[in-house]
Amino acid sequence: NPRRTPLIAGNWKMNLDHLQAIAFVQKLAWSLKDANHDFTAVEVAVFPPFTDIRSVQTLISADKLPLAFGAQDVSAQESGAFTGEISAAFLAKLECQYVIIGHSERRTLHNETDEQVAAKVTAALGQNLVPLICVGETAADLELHGPSAVPVAQLRAALAGVSNAADIVVAYEPVWAIGSGKAATPEQAEQVAAQLRLVLQETLGQDVADKTRILYGGSVKSGNIAAYMREPNVDGALVGGASLDVTEFGNIVRYLK
Ligand code: G3P
Repeated sequence: NPRRTPLIAGNWKMNLDHLQAIAFVQKLAWSLKDANHDFTAVEVAVFPPFTDIRSVQTLISADKLPLAFGAQDVSAQESGAFTGEISAAFLAKLECQYVIIGHSERRTLHNETDEQVAAKVTAALGQNLVPLICVGETAADLELHGPSAVPVAQLRAALAGVSNAADIVVAYEPVWAIGSGKAATPEQAEQVAAQLRLVLQETLGQDVADKTRILYGGSVKSGNIAAYMREPNVDGALVGGASLDVTEFGNIVRYLK
């Protein structure tokens, strides 16, 4: 779709400290430049841990690197007595463009509810951050409800407080495919992505549905990325494990080569 620039995003999770982050981002940017990567054709974003963001921001802005970055989570609260939380305003001040919201590891390990996800989406949009909203079904959901029921319901819930013109990104990450090596087939990813685009159309209108990028995530590697990118409703990938290796992540970014 000519209206959607593909996005390859690396979710580092709790990996790479700020010194490792600096080395990684430098290597990534230079290796992509050396390979003549067209950053306007395929956008590249990294999602480091909170403690790395200031270092990544400083490096990217000092060297004018064509990389986007964001955080892996955000508080739904504005400020105040919320020990350990990080506000959307703090992230905006650090020039984060994106923030991941509702990753399955937050939903599962930290019991994040659909309501909390929706509140975080609203908080992010309030600071002009682009929420990268994650949805996905577990293996049990898949057996009980089929492939798209849970992701569709999660996306509807996440958009509860969102108004029309919003700039958002959606990531479909089947929980059974995350870190398992058992990636969804491109056809499975496309089927759910198409359903998610319908939700966008119903809730936010045709224009937003046409311009919103829907990523696939779950055991994406350099060997399988091209097949996902051939699907009409898949506009990129959210990469976990394979985003921690500069060469491998660079090869995923350069899936067009
Ligand atoms: O957010 C990305 C992620 O959950 C996928 O992880 O390791 O299967 O690429 P991985």
